[in-house]
Order: sequence, then C-alpha cells, then structure tokens
Amino acid sequence: MAVLGIDLGTSGCKTVLVSREGKILAAATAEYPLSTPKPLWSEQDPHDWWKGLVASVKAVIAKQPNEVIEGIGIGGQMHGATLLDADDQVVRPAILWNDGRCQAECDLIHKKFPGVIKETGNRALVGFTAPKLLWVQRNEPKVWKRVRTVLLPKDYLRLRLTGEKVAEMSDAAGMLLLDVAKRRWSAKMLKVCNIDESYLGRLIEGTEVGGSVTAAAAAELGIPAGVPVVGGAGDQAAGAVGAGCASPGQTTIALGTSGVVFTTTKGYSPEKDGRLHTFCHALPKTWHQMGVMLSAAGSLQWFRDTCAPGVDFGDLCTAAGNAPRGAEGLTFLPYLTGERTPLCDAQARGAFIGLTRLHTQKYLTRAVLEGISLGLAESLRLIRAAGTTVKEATVTGGGTRSDVWMQILADVCDARIVLREGADAGPALGGARLALVGACGVSIKVACAPGPVVKTFTPDKKAVKEYAKIAERFRALYPAIRDYCHAV
Ligand code: XUL
Repeated sequence: MAVLGIDLGTSGCKTVLVSREGKILAAATAEYPLSTPKPLWSEQDPHDWWKGLVASVKAVIAKQPNEVIEGIGIGGQMHGATLLDADDQVVRPAILWNDGRCQAECDLIHKKFPGVIKETGNRALVGFTAPKLLWVQRNEPKVWKRVRTVLLPKDYLRLRLTGEKVAEMSDAAGMLLLDVAKRRWSAKMLKVCNIDESYLGRLIEGTEVGGSVTAAAAAELGIPAGVPVVGGAGDQAAGAVGAGCASPGQTTIALGTSGVVFTTTKGYSPEKDGRLHTFCHALPKTWHQMGVMLSAAGSLQWFRDTCAPGVDFGDLCTAAGNAPRGAEGLTFLPYLTGERTPLCDAQARGAFIGLTRLHTQKYLTRAVLEGISLGLAESLRLIRAAGTTVKEATVTGGGTRSDVWMQILADVCDARIVLREGADAGPALGGARLALVGACGVSIKVACAPGPVVKTFTPDKKAVKEYAKIAERFRALYPAIRDYCHAV
C-alpha cells in the first residue's frame, strides 16, 4: 500500500512512491522544455507536462510493480496561466510564473482597484496569474475569446487525471483572484480582471479528495481506475509540507537558484504593503507567508562561474570563512534577476559596493554569502513584523553543505538553523504526504511531521549584533542605486 506524490516542476516532472509510513520507495523524473519566444516571456506546452507525468509515474511503477496505489497528491509550479477552450483543449502555451511580460497589467490592477492588497493579501506581481490573464485579454483578444477555463499547471494535470476542474487553495492564492482570508474567489478581483467565475475551478483544500483517476488515464498510466486524487499544493506549500513545516511559527528556508523563506502562520496576517506573499497553506484553516528572493544560490553560482571558474563550491565557501564578518566593508546586493521580496522591483540589479585593493576572492565570496543571507533575512524581518515568532528555520537545498554559510545564515537571521533528514525531498514528498492524509486517513501530525535534526547552527550573540548593524547598511544601499538600475 503506497501513494504517489507528483511535482510538476519547471524543468521536469518528478514522481515519488511513498509508503503508508512516509518512506520514499522509488522516484523518477521526466524532463520537458521551456520556451522563451520573446525577451521576458516564459512558456510551456501543457501537453509536455502530461507526457512528463505519464513517463515519471510509469517509471516509478516499473521500479515497484507490486505496490497498490491508494492515493495521489500533486504539487507544482505556481501561478502559470493554462487556458482551455469549451472542449477543454489548450488554446495557447501556458504563461509561466517566471514570465515577466505583464508589468503594465499589474499597474492597471492597482490603478483600477487600489484595495487589491487588502482584498487578496498580496500586491499584483508579474509572476502572478491575474495580470497574465489581463495581458491575454489586451494583447491576444482572439485567443481570449475562445477561453472558457483557466487552470493552474498542476490543476490542469488533475483535469487530465480525473476529468475534474478543481482549484486547490494554496495554489489558487497565487492567482490574485482569491479572497485569501475567506478561502473563496474574490468577486471584486474577478470583476477587476473581467473573469467569469465559471472559468475557474471548484475550490478544495490540499488534503481534500477532488476526484479519482478515470479509466482512460488509468490505462495510460498503468494504475487502477478510481484512485483518489487529493488537492495537493503549490510547490512552495508542498515543499514545506515535505519538510514538516505545518504548524504556526514553523519556518523553512529553501536555498535553490531562488530563495524562499516560508512560515506557517496562526491565521491570515498579511503584510500591509504586500511585500510578502500571504497565501493559504495546503492544510485546512492554515495560512502561510513567504518571501521570495529571485537569485539566492543563483548568485553564488553566477559568482563562482564568473569570478572563480572551476573552483569547488565547498572550497570557495570554506575560504570565505577566513574573511571577517562584514567582509571589511564590502557588500553584495544579490539582485541579479531583479527582486521580489522585499523590493518588488523587476528592474533591480546586483552590485558589489565598497571594493578596495584588500578585497581578494575570499572577501568577495564572503560578501556574496552575506548578501544572500541578508536578503533572506529581510523576508524573515517582515514575517516577524507581521506577528509571527520565528526562532528556528529548517534549511533545504545545496547551500546546506557549507557550514560557513549556514553559520552566517544563523547569525544574520538570529535564528537556529537546522538541517533535517529527508527535508530535501521537496514538493513531490509534500504531495504524497497530503495524499496520505486525504486518501489514507493518516493524521496531519503523523504524515507531516518534520524529520529528525541532523545538524544545528546556533546564532552567536556577538555576531548577531554585528550583523544587525551590517543589515542597516545593506538595507540603505539599494535605494541609493535604484535610479541607476531603472535608467540603464
Ligand atoms: C512561488 C513561485 C515559484 C514557482 C515555481 O511564488 O513563483 O515557487 O511556483 O517554482
């Protein structure tokens, strides 16, 4: 007896087979392309997602052919606009979360409806779904005329699996069309964006069963028909569930190319300027806040490839441990691909500020590690200011291999940084855990428990004080170069 967890990523679809006890029994990934037909555009063909799902599910089943599948949970890339016609056929490539074409539509939403942050808990950002829909209305009116259904990427896969048009709550919150506090569609936002509610899926919670596998899908996948499919979650909420971040105050920091600080909150508590994302969590009556940094480990990768080609990441970070805190007045601003939290500025650029002849490679690396950590700490500062106490964060991603970086993060965030067994399994495991709850009746407490701690980094009091000062100077720097970034 086991469940399937599926993560519809941006580069591929990952499926895991998970036992009732929560152990990963098999995993497989199938990749698909990403297309950039114009600068700032980022699109994918939804048919490729389905092919990825079929290939990865089949590969997993082939590895463990005797397991009986009891449930399925899907996690996936958020915000993407998947547009279907009256026959549920795809009308144009999906416009993805990392597509930047719709700034004018974001501005239009705020102009038409200045209460958008109060209504949805969030400000309009180019990544979100609603401005993408307005863009299609304004730029491709013939395409929009044919549209009858709008689904998020993983909910399109659910349609292919179950025939049901469903929108799951944690993902729906990232559309900017949800009344996040009341967990229902916002009539005001639908009006502002000219969307008929009949275009959107029926809302369900992440642990709720939203349909079961059809005979046609079952035949294609090689699993029995009728397997229940739960709501699942947007990839960040699913990843948090996978890492055991389910009850208020629990926090994860995901150090991927981008960096995400994710905290489960007691209730709905939006940040007044909408600099944090305030979304529904994948668990009923639970919300979360997250700050998204666009170039986290991506900044270190850029630095290594550009300034230290061929040098091992581990050696680079260890050497940075021999440079002093604050890197002798050198600050790195990690805005290589613009920034979401806290700047909400797609035109922001990165910088090294304060260079002298003294600054050799180890100082530059230290400045990069500190700049990324200071950027992430800004999200944590906003989360704390919005009312949640955070004393500990579970960190996931490649950066966890560097003790130097993890200690910097603990000192900059003034929080215990813990590494946990299994925390890196990500959104696919989160999807499987939600299926264990919704389809197999395992309690949330048992299914979504954090794994055992394998390492802890405790903040050093002296370092915390030093970094508090360094954070002030970091915060002051971007406003000083903003006009330059917007002019070039
Ligand atoms: C979250 C976000 C990303 C995407 C793709 O707001 O934009 O996590 O879901 O991973």
